[in-house]
Amino acid sequence: MSRVQLALSLLSIAPVALAGNVQLEGLTLPEEYYQQRDIVKGMFTSSYDAYKKYAWGHDDLSPVSMSYSDGRNGWGASLADAMPTMYIMGLDDLFHEAVDYISGVDFSQSQTEDTVSIFESTIRYVAGMLSAYQLSGEKDDILVEKAKQLADKLVLGWVDGHTVPYGYVNFTSGEPVIDTTNIAEAGTLTLEYAVLSQYTGNSTYEELAVGSAKQIMNTPPPLPGLPAQGYEPSNNTFVGGYVTWGGGSDSYLEYLIKYARLTNTDDNSWVDAWQTGVDSSIKTLLRTSTVGDWLYLADYDSNKKIRHVSSHLACFHGGNWIQGGRMIDDESIVDYGLQLADACWNTYASTATGLGPEVFAFASDDGNYTGSSAPSKAQLDFYEEHGFYITAEDYILRPEVLESQFIAYRATGDTKYLDRAASAVASMNEYLLVNGAFSGIEDVTDKQSARIDDTESFWFAEVLKYLYLIFDDPDHISLDEYVLNTEAQPFKAPPGKGHYGSGVLLDIPVDASLTVGADLPEVSANSFMPVSIKDIIGLDN
Ligand SMILES: *[C@@H]1O[C@H](CO)[C@@H](O)[C@H](O)[C@H]1NC(C)=O
Ligand SMILES: *[C@@H]1O[C@H](CO)[C@@H](O)[C@H](O)[C@H]1NC(C)=O
Ligand SMILES: *[C@@H]1O[C@H](CO)[C@@H](O)[C@H](O)[C@H]1NC(C)=O
Ligand SMILES: *[C@@H]1O[C@H](CO)[C@@H](O)[C@H](O)[C@H]1NC(C)=O
Repeated sequence: MSRVQLALSLLSIAPVALAGNVQLEGLTLPEEYYQQRDIVKGMFTSSYDAYKKYAWGHDDLSPVSMSYSDGRNGWGASLADAMPTMYIMGLDDLFHEAVDYISGVDFSQSQTEDTVSIFESTIRYVAGMLSAYQLSGEKDDILVEKAKQLADKLVLGWVDGHTVPYGYVNFTSGEPVIDTTNIAEAGTLTLEYAVLSQYTGNSTYEELAVGSAKQIMNTPPPLPGLPAQGYEPSNNTFVGGYVTWGGGSDSYLEYLIKYARLTNTDDNSWVDAWQTGVDSSIKTLLRTSTVGDWLYLADYDSNKKIRHVSSHLACFHGGNWIQGGRMIDDESIVDYGLQLADACWNTYASTATGLGPEVFAFASDDGNYTGSSAPSKAQLDFYEEHGFYITAEDYILRPEVLESQFIAYRATGDTKYLDRAASAVASMNEYLLVNGAFSGIEDVTDKQSARIDDTESFWFAEVLKYLYLIFDDPDHISLDEYVLNTEAQPFKAPPGKGHYGSGVLLDIPVDASLTVGADLPEVSANSFMPVSIKDIIGLDN
């Protein structure tokens, strides 16, 4: 083929993404959707007004009781987490007011309990401040100083001689809380600390975060490329063999490709580790529901049993597979990602409120074991109609399902994702609105559901940012120019390399002793699972 013929043949095929890029080339938003963007901006300003009125300076607005709560050490989590969204929406006055407030916070002392979560504080506070600093032109140096002030205490979670940090630091004593951690907590710090190292000129932060993620990557896992959820920092061993893409593990997997994309590192092991995990997931965890043919990723437990469960938190996986698939030029992984995003959307499309539940379950040809009690008659009926059934009915303003629709839209340009986002916007305004703000609900299947009196900071940081950006010019915060942290905080990335990873799967031997074997008696409902449901509910993606 001559060069001219080649060029012509490339022109004639359907729109594609450039090699290694995530977004479809030349994508433009159809004009009629821009009004949705303005609706979303209005949702932000009205719920933030309520925050200012009833919860100013505190972590969360309590929208029903018109009060507040401080579950993130009282430093004003919603303010720090919302700053990048304000900047992106062009809400400059609110942005500067928030920067002024955060500039005066003493992050070296907790305002509430002694103990501080390294993970939660990094993804919300450190990331919110650094992203706001970067987006707004690197002018407010105080934001870097404040991020550093907090991080300098968080790094006390790394005990001398350990590569993986404990999950919590007692800010009063400056000592870590000695307890097992999980791979999401210990493996989700690389983006934030790489940026902090860049701005402070101190490489320690990045080295610590990278060391932790790499230690997890190199610890013999229960399944190839799929580490167990629980982790013991004192001797670098997994605790149990529970494998999931859901809470407690999720963002370790998410950050493998994101760190590679943010830094363009020559070290292929990050992307290779991700590809190994995805390959293993396709072989071991991927299932199709017997009703509706919905694709899902099951969990794998410490007794080598497949659990046919999934969750709102896990629903970041569709978007993550789309992004990673594009980075390694593997459209079959992209296609799985699109199907996962569809199945997650089905959990919204199937309820009376049009919003999706916290935890749900499936059945496939090889069974329907979930690790908990058998489904009720009502759950079975729901399954027959919708191809999944609900095991926790609440919606607490989580973003992951919409996050994956956003990435799917940017990658394909299919307007069905815009229509889904518009449907979610309508549902939120119909069923969540209270006192000008938005609350969670106890039961997504009930239009008159009781409210949950809490607006976590991820409402401002993630839900409203993804909804705003899906209805904005696709070049605004392009996924080929920014890497979004697990709280949707954008960090500027260098131009893409064209291709990521070596294509060779990581060869870390599996540790069969982590899982005890399927020939044992049926496990009980409360068989070992290091992260309790309570913790998962508390965790952000
Ligand atoms: C870099 O940061 C670490 C972690 O806070 C600190 O221990 C170290 O002293 C810093 N190095 C320099 C040269 O400031
Ligand atoms: C944190 O450390 C302080 C000072 O040593 C101690 O009094 C307090 O009990 C510790 N808090 C927790 C939750 O362990
Ligand atoms: C690792 O340390 C934990 C906590 O001290 C302990 O329970 C576990 O038995 C140790 N595992 C190994 C393999 O030494
Ligand atoms: C799961 O399997 C059991 C036993 O085979 C069956 O009674 C039940 O209806 C199944 N549940 C679903 C959701 O398919």
